[in-house]
Amino acid sequence: MKWIFIFVLLISGCSQQSAPSLYQQLGAEAGIEAIVDGLLYEIEHDKRIVHHFADTDIARFRRLLAEQLCQLSGGPCVYTGGTMQESHTGFNISLADYDALVEGLISVMQRQNISIAAQNQLLALLAPMYKDVSYR
Ligand code: HEM
Repeated sequence: MKWIFIFVLLISGCSQQSAPSLYQQLGAEAGIEAIVDGLLYEIEHDKRIVHHFADTDIARFRRLLAEQLCQLSGGPCVYTGGTMQESHTGFNISLADYDALVEGLISVMQRQNISIAAQNQLLALLAPMYKDVSYR
């Protein structure tokens, strides 16, 4: 009986270790940086939303978005930017704007061969933020 118990403990320990975190599935630090760079490219070429970023310090936005996606996906980062509410106040972001950004993000993740399951996990973490980034 004791051996069965130890065996079960070992098996469950192993299975927990082998499940990659969302952070790992996104390609860890390098993968997330590539996602952010890809998204910046998408934004730059998207006439629907590029105007919002006309006065943005892109280097700062790039660094903070990477920090945020890293922290959000369970990586070893600490997000040091402003709250989503304060950072998006005055931009009048609509649901269509949000959808456009998400569309760009999905294209980038597809290009980087991120699994659909991991893509959906990230999108599910971002979805509740819509209320904080929209119309303020
Ligand atoms: C879940 C969705 C979103 C997330 C996680 C997000 C994340 C961020 C982050 C981390 C920053 C930097 C914050 C800081 O400067 O302290 C930021 C800034 C910004 N975001 Fe978003 N954002 C989202 C949606 C959007 C959408 C849909 C738009 C417009 C299409 C947008 C436009 C901007 C702009 C223009 C800035 C720069 C503001 C400035 O220049 O001060 N964001 N966002």
